[in-house]
Amino acid sequence: MSKILVTGGLGYIGSHTVVALQEAGFKVVIIDNLSNASTKVLDGILAISGELPEFENFDLRNKLKTQEFFKKYDDLSGVIHFAASKAVGESVGNPLLYYENNVSTLIYVLQELNKKDNANFIFSSSCTVYGQADKMPITEEAPIKAAESPYGNTKQIGEAILKDTCKANQNFNTIALRYFNPIGAHKSAQIGELPIGVPQNLVPYITQTGAGVREQLSVFGDNYPTKDGTCVRDYIHVVDIAKAHVIALKRLLNKKYKENFEVFNLGTGTPSSVLEVIQSFERVSNKKLNYKIVDKRDGDVISAYADTNKANAVLGWKAKSTLDDAMESAWKWQQTL
Ligand code: WQD
Repeated sequence: MSKILVTGGLGYIGSHTVVALQEAGFKVVIIDNLSNASTKVLDGILAISGELPEFENFDLRNKLKTQEFFKKYDDLSGVIHFAASKAVGESVGNPLLYYENNVSTLIYVLQELNKKDNANFIFSSSCTVYGQADKMPITEEAPIKAAESPYGNTKQIGEAILKDTCKANQNFNTIALRYFNPIGAHKSAQIGELPIGVPQNLVPYITQTGAGVREQLSVFGDNYPTKDGTCVRDYIHVVDIAKAHVIALKRLLNKKYKENFEVFNLGTGTPSSVLEVIQSFERVSNKKLNYKIVDKRDGDVISAYADTNKANAVLGWKAKSTLDDAMESAWKWQQTL
């Protein structure tokens, strides 16, 4: 039975991917420092899959502990690397935290894997690497522009480190997955997004407003050059994202890759504006959302949605859930909190 390491496996996308891996018959070991997650997520995973993954609670910034981990677990078939800080705004104010936590830890993990005869590595990347792309929908060939935040820069740097590592070592095989906007929760409502403090992202802020946890949603600008003046994104169900990780991992394990460094967009290909996301919430919850239009947020791109042809054709993967499906699961999850 292949054992897979999932770093950041108690986080939002990580936990959903752990469940998808277990459902596909993989054994899982998680490394998480609990900086943005709680061990309650293990209970949720167990409730869904009936199987408790192994869990090592330490910080990957501790190089010695990371080395010790890879000595103990010398039978791993693959690694899926989620562990990173991901708040765009926070990264602007605290860049060194982001470069240490997102880049140094990646290097420590790669140094251990690079010692092995063969390494299969899935990297959690982001559409943020594109910045404001010139052409919609965005393909994987779109130019990588100067990052708009230290967070986005750490993803660009991460991909560059991996590309160079794979070039230097033909037995190091990587797929980087560039997520668009992950939303929603597992249909069981046993796991979901657990933002700490005030949510930065749109959908958890909407569901918390709907649940009365927040007073009112602020919509950051409605005079952008878009269909209704609000920003456009590609909102994709987190379970669709999770399943793509299993497909990508199997591509590496079965040596089906064309090159040992590949990149795929993970989106639905459907553009949705902020107002359309609000309308989706109102449809699925049958509640009116309290919101107001305020000034634009620094760093926001006007529009970003995926060209999904490469993932569809090469991975044989396509997002199955609609915006309403994802919003319904997010709302169901919110009501359990
Ligand atoms: C979406 C839209 C906001 C909150 C970020 C990261 C990206 C990925 C997903 C990690 C924007 C608007 C938001 C609010 C609003 N994270 N909005 N009121 O910025 O597209 O992407 O999170 O990988 O890398 O960059 O997501 O949900 O913050 O914003 O009007 O209270 O909703 O202006 O147009 P974003 P978001």
